[in-house]
Amino acid sequence: MKKGKILVAGGMGYIGSHTAVELINAGYEVLIIDDLSNSNADVLDGIEKITGTRPVFVQQDLKDKEATRAILKANPGVDGVILFAAYKAVGESVREPLKYYRNNIVTLINQLELMAELGIKGIVFSSSCTVYGQPDVSHLPVTEKAPIQPALSPYGNTKQINEEIIRDTIHAGAPFKSIILRYFNPIGAHPSAEIGELPNGVPQNLIPYLTQTAIGIRKELSVFGDDYHTPDGSCIRDYINVVDLAKAHVVAMDRMLENRSDEPVEIFNLGTGHGVSVLELIQTFEKATDVKVPYRVVGRREGDIEQVWANPEKANKVLGWKAEVSLADTLRSAWNWQKRLRERGIQ
Ligand code: UD1
Repeated sequence: MKKGKILVAGGMGYIGSHTAVELINAGYEVLIIDDLSNSNADVLDGIEKITGTRPVFVQQDLKDKEATRAILKANPGVDGVILFAAYKAVGESVREPLKYYRNNIVTLINQLELMAELGIKGIVFSSSCTVYGQPDVSHLPVTEKAPIQPALSPYGNTKQINEEIIRDTIHAGAPFKSIILRYFNPIGAHPSAEIGELPNGVPQNLIPYLTQTAIGIRKELSVFGDDYHTPDGSCIRDYINVVDLAKAHVVAMDRMLENRSDEPVEIFNLGTGHGVSVLELIQTFEKATDVKVPYRVVGRREGDIEQVWANPEKANKVLGWKAEVSLADTLRSAWNWQKRLRERGIQ
C-alpha cells in the first residue's frame, strides 16, 4: 500500500539517493527533482536496481520557482518534502559565499512558498552539527539544547539561516510542519554498492580521500593534526552510516504525516553517540578491509573543530530510530563502493 508521495529535492545526491531508496522500501512514492550539479543521471539506475522501482525524476534547478511549481503541478499529490538540494563544500563556500547563500537560501524559500500554495504538509530539512561549532566540553556529547555558535563558514551559516527561516515561517502560521535533522558525519554507501558518494574533484572529506588513497588514486592521506586535546591528538567526530541516516528521514516523515509531532518544528541530532578519532578510523578501516592506507600527519586544517559527537537520545526515544550499522561495516561499504567506481571506470 502506498503511504504517500514525497518530493525528494536533491534526491540524486549522496544522502538523497539513499533516502529515496529507504522511502520506496517503506512504501512511499518518490518524486525526485535535482539539477545534477553534484550528481549524475545514472544514480536513478542504482535506485531502481536496489528497489525494483524507478522513481519519477525531473532535472531542474530548484532556485527556479516557476519551473518547480510546474513540476509539482504536473506531478500532483505530494504530501511531504525532504530538502537535500544544497551546496556543502566548506572551503568553496568561503571562496564563493554568494553562490552558497543564493543556492541554499533561495531553494528553501521557494520550497516553503510552494508548500503553502500547494497544501504540502511537512518538510524534513537537512541541517548539520556544524551549527554547534566547537561545543564546550561540558556539552559533549551534544544534545539539541547545546548553544548554537557563530558559523565558521558561509556553508555553516546557510544551515543556521535555513533553520531560522523554517522556524520563523512556521511560527508565523504557515500551514505545514517541519523536522530539522542535524547530521553528524555521514559516511559509507549502500551495502549493494549500487549507490554511494560520487567523487567531484579532489575530495575534501575524510572518507572519500581515504578510500581513494587506499585504491591508489591518491598517494597518501593527510591527517590534519595530532596535537589536539584528544586521547591520540587527532580530531574526533561522530561517523554515521548513510543508510541508517536515510532511515531516520523515513521515520521523521511518518511522524509528520501521521501528525504525531507535538511541536510544529522539531529538531533531532542524528549520530551514533560515539566519538571516533581520525587515527582510530584509519585503523578500523585497515582492519575491516585488510587494506593499508598510507598516511602522514600534517598540520591542522583551518576551521576544523577539535571534537564533536552526538547525544542522539532524543531521536532514539521520540523517533524510535537508532544508528545500527557498525563502523567496520560502514567502512567496508565505503571500500566496496570505491572498488565499484573503479569497475565502472570512474576515478
Ligand atoms: C565538514 C563540516 C560539516 C559538513 C561536512 C560535509 C564543519 C565543522 N564541518 O565536516 O558541517 O556537513 O564537512 O562537507 O565545517 N580529515 C583529515 N584528512 C583529510 C580530510 C579530513 O585528517 O584529508 C579530518 C578532519 O580534520 C576532520 C575529520 O577528518 O577531523 C572529518 O573531516 P571531514 O570529512 O572533512 O568532515 P568535517 O570537517 O567534520
